Amino acid sequence: MIISLISQKGGVGKSALARLLAVEYIRAGWTVKIADLDTMQGTSTKWKARRDRAGITPEVPVEKFATVERAIREAERFDLLLLDGPAHAEQGGRSMAKASDLILIPSCYGLDDLEAQVEAAYELEEGGINRDRIWFVFSRVTGSPAEDEAAREYLERAKINVFEPVLPELPSIRQGHNGGKAASEISFPVIRERAIALALAIATQARSVKEAA
Ligand SMILES: Nc1ncnc2c1ncn2[C@@H]1O[C@H](COP(=O)(O)OP(=O)(O)OP(=O)(O)O)[C@@H](O)[C@H]1O
Ligand SMILES: [Mg+2]
Repeated sequence: MIISLISQKGGVGKSALARLLAVEYIRAGWTVKIADLDTMQGTSTKWKARRDRAGITPEVPVEKFATVERAIREAERFDLLLLDGPAHAEQGGRSMAKASDLILIPSCYGLDDLEAQVEAAYELEEGGINRDRIWFVFSRVTGSPAEDEAAREYLERAKINVFEPVLPELPSIRQGHNGGKAASEISFPVIRERAIALALAIATQARSVKEAA
């Protein structure tokens, strides 16, 4: 299976979601690799180095790839390949999406994010990617239930899928990332469970898309 994290906007939480999913799928017994396609920043690669230094298990395989094509070849060797894309993924975005069972597009609640990300989703659809495979994830969100509702209404009008669980923007998650952890590994049970609920919702959708294919 291939799940990709794609975005028009930078810093929306692609790498954070990649590490959350990697950890949770590994815990469920899958073999997983994160393909770090952001060769400029190497966010996932650096996170893995911090994780290894801290001796956190399970070990998460991460490798940098200069091209999507090379990354995709790894899919044969792992149950799940996570494609952690760069920001502004116009060129690579379509080939990432074409190879993927599920495409995750993270967004905050604001229109600055939503409009750009919806545009990215439409570009994928125009490129022949089925709408059922494109899912938004509310990530790094701060704000009220009213904002959450407004953002969901916006996506509903745009005919875009979005998961019910969200990943809130929290200092504890940021600090967990600093220490080589995923959001589902931090010490606050309530936050951990929210992260796990999101990973589970994504995994359920990935399975259903794969089965329908
Ligand atoms: N839920 C969260 N709470 C707090 N901090 C977060 C959360 N998710 C991500 N971050 C932090 O926000 C920053 C950006 O997140 P991340 O690197 O995952 O985004 P990205 O979409 O991969 O960015 P880029 O476009 O640069 O690749 C990082 O410092 C990360 O640790
Ligand atoms: Mg990133």
